[in-house]
Amino acid sequence: MNTNIWIVDKYVDNLENNPQVVDAANSLRKNEVVALPTETVYGLGGNAESDEAVAKIFAAKGRPGDNPLIIHIADRNQLSRFVTEVPEKAVALMDTFWPGPLTLIFKKKAGVLSEKATAGLDTVAVRMPDHPVALALLKTCGLPIAAPSANSSGKPSPTKAEHVLDDLNGKIAGVLDGGTTGVGVESTVVDCTAEIPVILRPGGVTKEQLEAVVGEVHEDAALKDQSQRPKAPGMKYTHYAPNAPLYMVAGPKEFLQTLVIEKEQEGLRVGVLTTEENRSFYKADLVLACGRRAELETVAASLYDTLRSFNQGHVDIIFSEIFPNEGVGHAIMNRLDKAAGHKLITE
Ligand code: TXA
Ligand code: MG
Repeated sequence: MNTNIWIVDKYVDNLENNPQVVDAANSLRKNEVVALPTETVYGLGGNAESDEAVAKIFAAKGRPGDNPLIIHIADRNQLSRFVTEVPEKAVALMDTFWPGPLTLIFKKKAGVLSEKATAGLDTVAVRMPDHPVALALLKTCGLPIAAPSANSSGKPSPTKAEHVLDDLNGKIAGVLDGGTTGVGVESTVVDCTAEIPVILRPGGVTKEQLEAVVGEVHEDAALKDQSQRPKAPGMKYTHYAPNAPLYMVAGPKEFLQTLVIEKEQEGLRVGVLTTEENRSFYKADLVLACGRRAELETVAASLYDTLRSFNQGHVDIIFSEIFPNEGVGHAIMNRLDKAAGHKLITE
């Protein structure tokens, strides 16, 4: 299949009538799948009401069928079509964070969405992305769009159109290239079906921000305890892994450097994942800085790009600094821990 590349400037006016956006919307109406930029990562969109379109999403990604998709909408009125009730706390969260990096789980109305999109569950995950190109596309096609991150299953999520093409070129109808995404880690997933909302996946909106709006918010126990079964099916899969084994290192940078030297003496090519502040300290085959530690948002924004860049550097092993597990650092550490397959070296 020839994969179209539709380049679109997210700052131009009247994106809904932009020829590239209209082309992509037409593909979606024909139940083809197209990648689109959102404020978090690129998504792989398809008509959420069509089994045919949703099957193409799973096939292109190689995604396990038991992992449900997030439904993207541009207008809150679309909710009543496939959701049975919208609790008060969900309304407050939508008022504050939509459009934005927050996915809410609702009870599902049967018989509207493709059962494949929701993996047969009686709940559905929904979000309104805060990206002009995504919103224009959603409005133009007029459909609820199921969109997981547009990477091959297991790979880091794409934050640039070129990442999408690295994984999916030839497998999808096209990609709307709207430049680099902003937040860099995926949306926070919050289950709103119980009285007290529960975070199933940490992301762009922090627990503190949620609690400021709705009071007490719980976190899925599986986020702290690896022996528990996560409530978001996707959280049980290995994810984000670069080709070389990645180890998180707790301790001072001098300790990390001694690990590098040890492995180099064994003849391995060693990579180091650090930030701008410490970049010049390390001596290794490939030292990559991922944003600035002093501003963790910049680390989130470039984490996946940096993880992918280690593959081009052909290293045998990667040591990574770790980050404070609070605020957006919570989402960063959740993803880094998965990328490392939980491997942590402590001084
Ligand atoms: O930022 C994002 O959320 C990106 C962009 C493209 O919107 N999307 C994204 O989708 O990260 P995906 O498919 O990579 O992750 C969706 C997560 C998975 O962990 C999935 O198991 C969970 O949401 N999920 C979806 N529906 C669910 C449901 N009904 N109950 C519990 N978890 C659900
Ligand atoms: Mg994903």
